[in-house]
Amino acid sequence: MAESTMQKIVSLAKRRGFIFQSSEIYGGLKACYDYGPLGVELKRNIKEAWWNDMVHKRSDIVGLDCSIIMHPDVWKASGHLAGFSDPLVDCRNCKERFRADKAPRATPGEKVTYREGGRRDGKKLEGVVPEAGYVCPVCGSGDLSPERQFNLMFRTSLGSVDPMQEILNAVDDMAKLDPAARKEKLAGIINASAVYLRPETAQGMFVNFLNILNSSRVKPPFGVAQTGKSYRNEITTQNLTFRTCEFEQMEMEFFVEPGTDDEWYDYWSKERFNWYISLGMKKDRLRLRPHEQKELAHYAKACVDVEYFYPFENPEGEGEWGELEGIANRTDYDLKKHSEFSGKDLSYFETETKRRYTPYVIEPAAGADRATLAFLCDAFDEEVVDKEKNDVRTVLRFHPRIAPVKVAVFPLVKRDGMPEKARDIMKELLAEGINSFYDETAAIGRRYRRQDEAGTPWCVTVDTDTLENGTVTVRERDSMEQSRVPAAGIADYFRNRLKNS
Ligand code: GAP
Repeated sequence: MAESTMQKIVSLAKRRGFIFQSSEIYGGLKACYDYGPLGVELKRNIKEAWWNDMVHKRSDIVGLDCSIIMHPDVWKASGHLAGFSDPLVDCRNCKERFRADKAPRATPGEKVTYREGGRRDGKKLEGVVPEAGYVCPVCGSGDLSPERQFNLMFRTSLGSVDPMQEILNAVDDMAKLDPAARKEKLAGIINASAVYLRPETAQGMFVNFLNILNSSRVKPPFGVAQTGKSYRNEITTQNLTFRTCEFEQMEMEFFVEPGTDDEWYDYWSKERFNWYISLGMKKDRLRLRPHEQKELAHYAKACVDVEYFYPFENPEGEGEWGELEGIANRTDYDLKKHSEFSGKDLSYFETETKRRYTPYVIEPAAGADRATLAFLCDAFDEEVVDKEKNDVRTVLRFHPRIAPVKVAVFPLVKRDGMPEKARDIMKELLAEGINSFYDETAAIGRRYRRQDEAGTPWCVTVDTDTLENGTVTVRERDSMEQSRVPAAGIADYFRNRLKNS
């Protein structure tokens, strides 16, 4: 069977060093990934583009970098301890554990057929769709456990006391207690040192609201931006880095005067949609999808997702809309909750009008890993160069701003001083901060194709003319056209091309 687009992307990502399975030599760890030499550059470039466009190019947004472990009360106030959960269901037939809200819908009472144990050679069984109105996403069975809520936060403990050891030490004493007292004792041991890995970076911005107001000369409307790791114990992980338990977010909380929030919400929805296009993402694979009322998070007045059409495989074929980023109107929910729980007044006093108010928050919340995956999928192309010769090239058409390597430098042959000249050019480019790569192995055509696969926008070749008239060949990744450019000032040439791309 022919490889699907996603299979080709996954295999290219591994072969060329974009994304590897974590701990692969030990058999891998489910839904954990590592970024290889090209992948780490791509992801860093995306995060840097975000930081530049959201913080450095604006006078109304400042940055922040918070700790991943925060005071446990933060999560009580934010509602994450009580409500950040997914409905979990077990399939009694194939033992798959899945999220009820993501399961394939079906009419209660309708007949279903499935294979025993979910195995292809398993006995054919018949059943019905349960009252809940969905079936197992893997085997199609309706023989399911009841739904139970599963909190997505990773719990750990802070301090020199290991709660598991404490529990083991107390096991014998606990046996003498009645069930209620035993539960209380256990909860006491666990809660004494329980802390959580943050499930979103956003709360760091809310709990530092006063610090930022008092230390920086900001006043609404202003934003606080942060990039960093977040953790969620996701029930179903899928599609490479799309949904993982450890991921990186790029979030910005924009504090505005109540009453102006709808306007800012529209502004940020458009800005964020256009940001992906400014980095070369195809417009017809992007859309803005407003949330229906029933989808809204407990804190949100409105929310719209920037979605990308990922080439994921599904029962209907190839391609599926998936969230890249959400833009939410979080109202004054978070600041008010943290005021209530911490006892600190998190309102803003406007000196000009002598008015005090709690700002509303518009939050564009993006995922660095999802963006990296979307840019990788979007850049992937197989171009027929010569139909008769069956010559197809694989090319990653990254925008030069996010391309991992900007310029590859080659000597045409490994003699006549060409390697030395090519290495000098590469050093000059590196010294100017233009990420470059030197390659002298294989035929020149083969070397161009290797760089197409890595998404390098330009190749420079040193040849006999270079030695005679001081010019080099510049080869364009997208058009494959070649032109001659003076070797002197090559760093300025590429700096300008990067700036104007
Ligand atoms: N502060 C709001 C918030 O965290 P979210 O929609 O849950 O909102 C924001 O997350 C973004 O973080 C998502 O649009 C997505 O890009 C990324 N994200 C969330 N969960 C993820 C996961 N399990 N794996 C990878 N990225 C994830």
